[in-house]
Amino acid sequence: MKAIRGATTLNSDTPDEVRSKVKELLTTIVSVNNLKADDIICIMLSSTADIKSLYPAKAAREAGFSHCALYSSLEPDIDGSLEKCVRVMLLTETSGSVRYVYLHGAKTLRKDISEVINIALDGPAGSGKSTVSKLVAKELDILSLDTGAMYRAVALKCINSGIDYAEKNQVDHIINNIDLRVEYKNGRQVTLLDGEDVSEKIRTAQVSMLASYVSAYPSVRAKMVDLQRKIASRVSCILDGRDIGTNVLPDCPFKFFLTATPEIRAMRRYAEDKLKGTAQSYEQTLKELNDRDKQDKNRAVAPLKCAKDAIVIDTSEMTAEEVARNICEKIQEKI
Ligand code: DC
Repeated sequence: MKAIRGATTLNSDTPDEVRSKVKELLTTIVSVNNLKADDIICIMLSSTADIKSLYPAKAAREAGFSHCALYSSLEPDIDGSLEKCVRVMLLTETSGSVRYVYLHGAKTLRKDISEVINIALDGPAGSGKSTVSKLVAKELDILSLDTGAMYRAVALKCINSGIDYAEKNQVDHIINNIDLRVEYKNGRQVTLLDGEDVSEKIRTAQVSMLASYVSAYPSVRAKMVDLQRKIASRVSCILDGRDIGTNVLPDCPFKFFLTATPEIRAMRRYAEDKLKGTAQSYEQTLKELNDRDKQDKNRAVAPLKCAKDAIVIDTSEMTAEEVARNICEKIQEKI
């Protein structure tokens, strides 16, 4: 037996709208999951207290769902939960994987029952982490934290200060005095270094290589990990990086690790750079990516590694949208 979840919101509390939205929700669940009437064991509906005009179970029966057991319940009034929302849990005989359905803005994860949700998304450069992270964040209505951007900002600060990167003391001095903040504008991450928005400046090949180098210093990692944990403890977010599942949030319930062949990863990076008009040759991009992988995997502190309990997704033959959908489905199955 499988449980399929879903939810929808209403614009107004009228019997007609309850009937039509409940019908739309249930027929969508049935069609995207290819269910036959006989597959459905029972349908349990709950509604927020601001829906008074019709019980959702009655609406479901009136809308033609009368061949199985129907239950309605009322949710307690909880701060932060969606308004005029009907949720459903449908029990079915289906054995395969199931798809959850969230309509009319009801896709928000249950903020009322899970204050903060964190998702760890690790993998090497070019595996698609940052694009996928943004897509997942949008779908689940949470923030996306690009932790690589933080190491990049440290690297930029080192470059601007003209220090000798190989000198631990000099890097320690930088890290002890850095003013690094992450803010969000219209849902997009803005990385602020000493008050300046450096989101674009940190995307050069020089910064990439140096970020990988300085991220091996324990002082740098300690400061960044502390900042990342603070952010993750306050807001629901998906964090993409190298050590999120193994080190930053080892108890995180949702861990994913993306892989792809070095050639495909280099080709993606090359195409991205070309679009920005900053392309170096494909061969050079591949070489730098392999060098960076080696550096990230072999450092002593929190190296790039797949957590034992992470779900591994080979993205070589997948679009970012497919990977994001896959991740969202796996998360919805677990909550
Ligand atoms: O994801 P990115 O390419 O922007 O990351 C730049 C570098 O920062 C990467 O080569 C290694 C380092 N990094 C890290 O050590 N740990 C993280 N969680 C994220 C990035």
